[in-house]
Amino acid sequence: MTTHLVLGGTGKTGRRVLTQLVAAGHTARAAARTPGPASPGVEPVHFDWADRSTYAPALSGVDAVYVVPPALQLEHAEQIAALGTLALDLGVSRAVLLSARGVDKAPDNATFRSEQALAGTGLPTGVVRPSWFAQNFTESFFAPATSSDGVIVAPTGEGAHAFIDAEDIAAVAVALLTGQAPLGAYDLSGPQALRFSEVAAILSAHAGREVKHVDLPVDDWKAGAAQNGLPADYAEMLGMLFTLIRDGYDADVSDGVQRALGRPATSFEDWAAREAGSLRLPD
Ligand SMILES: NC(=O)c1ccc[n+]([C@@H]2O[C@H](COP(=O)([O-])OP(=O)(O)OC[C@H]3O[C@@H](n4cnc5c(N)ncnc54)[C@H](OP(=O)(O)O)[C@@H]3O)[C@@H](O)[C@H]2O)c1
Repeated sequence: MTTHLVLGGTGKTGRRVLTQLVAAGHTARAAARTPGPASPGVEPVHFDWADRSTYAPALSGVDAVYVVPPALQLEHAEQIAALGTLALDLGVSRAVLLSARGVDKAPDNATFRSEQALAGTGLPTGVVRPSWFAQNFTESFFAPATSSDGVIVAPTGEGAHAFIDAEDIAAVAVALLTGQAPLGAYDLSGPQALRFSEVAAILSAHAGREVKHVDLPVDDWKAGAAQNGLPADYAEMLGMLFTLIRDGYDADVSDGVQRALGRPATSFEDWAAREAGSLRLPD
């Protein structure tokens, strides 16, 4: 049994990493600016990427750390390097960084710089590079599709993407944190690329009401996102990712779940079936 620090402990992957660590008999610290209450095996700890005085109290005494970069901030290499250096000094044995699929393919980008910055500290490091999360349709920017208006607004045309279940990301992260899988970089995706219209059809079937995909020009989506308060550079980056999907460059399937866990990744259909209770609006 070991103790782990989980950054982003209230987020889509961190929450699941905590649950799976505890289920496997480990203890953990859930770190966030607002970390929530304690629960069996989980101790909350205040952590703020913008306040370096919070790093050492969170890290001291833990065996391994799951690193979720600061939200809505593109450049974070310097903060991640500072955390990695401190972790090494404090005797932390390994880190697993949440990155994103494809960052190693682009010539130069902030997320890949963070991967390199963490590895450059000398702390043994694993990296999970997921595709887009299925949970974006229930817990993030596409949630209105399932919680209110039934519309997925995405400038993706006929482009397809192999969405991944965040439970699978967490399972791979836990395998790396606990030494059940070798450290390395793992590209993760679901087992099949789906057009957004196909995603809408699956959600419709499990929600018991119509969910539609509404396409629009990428620039219109970016303008709307900026109007809704998304930082302009972040909206620009998401616009670039949507364009990759739209142009058919992000439809590949990755084998990282199989490599790390020895089982296939969860399909979008199986994820939606599992979530059917929460996809159905209350009467
Ligand atoms: N969503 C996807 O489809 C997708 C796909 C590939 C990669 N990713 C990557 O996943 C990462 C997570 O993004 P997400 O949007 O899905 O968020 P998330 O993990 O669901 O939520 C963010 C978590 O980080 C904490 N947090 C945010 N800002 C913080 C700060 N300044 N200091 C300390 N803790 C902070 C939040 O809690 P508090 O607000 O209480 O601090 C929360 O626990 C991003 O790096 C993204 O690039 C996402």
